[in-house]
Amino acid sequence: MTKKIAVLPGDGIGPEIITEAVKVLDYLNADMDLGLVFENGLIGGAAYDVHATPFPQQTLDLARQSDAILLGAVGGYKWESLDISVRPEKGLLGLRSELQLFANLRPAILYPQLVDASTLKPEVVSGFDIMIIRELTGGIYFGQPRGVRLLENGEKQGYNTLVYSESEIRRIAHVAFQTAQKRNRRLCSVDKANVLECTELWRQVVTETGKQYPEVELSHMYVDNAAMQLVRAPKQFDVLVTTNMFGDILSDISAMLTGSIGMLPSASLDANNKGMYEPIHGSAPDIAGKGIANPLATILSAAMMLRYSFNQNEAAERIEQAVNAALNANIRTADIYSDGMQKIGASAMGDAVISALKERA
Ligand code: IPM
Ligand code: MG
Repeated sequence: MTKKIAVLPGDGIGPEIITEAVKVLDYLNADMDLGLVFENGLIGGAAYDVHATPFPQQTLDLARQSDAILLGAVGGYKWESLDISVRPEKGLLGLRSELQLFANLRPAILYPQLVDASTLKPEVVSGFDIMIIRELTGGIYFGQPRGVRLLENGEKQGYNTLVYSESEIRRIAHVAFQTAQKRNRRLCSVDKANVLECTELWRQVVTETGKQYPEVELSHMYVDNAAMQLVRAPKQFDVLVTTNMFGDILSDISAMLTGSIGMLPSASLDANNKGMYEPIHGSAPDIAGKGIANPLATILSAAMMLRYSFNQNEAAERIEQAVNAALNANIRTADIYSDGMQKIGASAMGDAVISALKERA
């Protein structure tokens, strides 16, 4: 049985890093007879340039017909002045929402080889290994009403709405508890229950759901404190679960603990584990087209795809071990470079991962 992957490179460094991830998947596909087939589609600014929308119907159809989606990144200077309704980001948000990819898994692991690439002290970050579960289809990102309105006094007023229903909170809480069950059985739920009613409900529903998982130790933390604790003593965490916007912010903080945002993959899953896989970093327009981006977050996202959507654990582990081996070879892209290493570009990093796969075949 073939498995169809929708490949959406997007903008900026998206095409460069996707090329490397597909290269790695192509190699494994042939080597392990995985039955993967690929079909490319447009998303974000690249789609806007052709179809005057960042989220064309063809792309939604392709995503629906596919078994999984591999996405690069969206956005760039070129489209920043467009109306917010057709900005590249709307393509990504539209996909998440239309496919109901509510569970965003963002693992942040510090590879021991990269301990010097982190801006934090080695003793603070070494051994860091957490999983952030971010709610991805609700909260303030999607809440209505939203917009900018004109007040009677002639002044403009911007507004967004933070809203979560019990069922939305419950389903992400189940994913988080089940993830914690498979790890070190500690779950920290992050909210702002001291100020926001919506997240007071979040805390209640997570607590209630936790009664079904007595073996998981549940704690709660306000988001400001969680941000501080992540840089103060990050190893206290195992699994974090939080709202869409808090998860966006905390996952960028976690990325820096691992040395570079160029290392963090993600999976966005629906209720049946159909998923979209993308690096958590953006399109990095400042370095786009130079061939110097780090493709490892995208390559690791491809590994997550094999694991979560296709149940190919062995293939996923092979990729993860090959990334580890490539880092052992002391080669680094610019974002994770440190003294004494050899600086290489995206394509050479992709080649290094494939060489490592071949050596360990
Ligand atoms: C992310 C990104 C997106 C988000 C942007 C590009 C819309 O920052 O995936 O973390 O805010 O969710
Ligand atoms: Mg983000």
